[in-house]
Amino acid sequence: MAIERTLSIIKPDAVAKNVIGQIYARFEAAGLKVVASKMAHLSQREAEAFYAVHKERPFFKDLVGFMISGPVMIQALEGENAILKNRELMGATDPKKADPGTIRADFADSIDANAVHGSDAADTACVEVGFFFPGMNVFSR
Ligand code: TYD
Repeated sequence: MAIERTLSIIKPDAVAKNVIGQIYARFEAAGLKVVASKMAHLSQREAEAFYAVHKERPFFKDLVGFMISGPVMIQALEGENAILKNRELMGATDPKKADPGTIRADFADSIDANAVHGSDAADTACVEVGFFFPGMNVFSR
């Protein structure tokens, strides 16, 4: 299996709930290493650029508004099959449909305040990690 990197964001709702550490523990237990991280309060421009792929979707404005409503914790995760592994840890987009024991089932309240973001494919992971962490800021061990 390939060693991959993926971009993870702990969204404002989960940061406000003070569960950053609990979510990091799940990454570590699954064998994912945090190889870059930063807390940030995204600007509207940054959030719109990050979610540009969704700009025609009806939820785009609310999504951007939510992502800039408070600080977020952004990390690059590295490990075997990291992209899919992180998506499995996250659970379904809608926490009501997320499997028990997933991050969204345990920490998210609704489809729009759903605790975490995770890249969904190799090409988006590459773009998204680069968006927040230019090469020199990733510390692969
Ligand atoms: P999407 O990429 O479909 O989901 P995921 O985060 O699981 O990859 O959607 C991006 C974000 O947009 C999602 O995490 C929350 C928000 N969203 C809504 O607010 N309403 C919706 O109906 C959908 C599909 C997404």
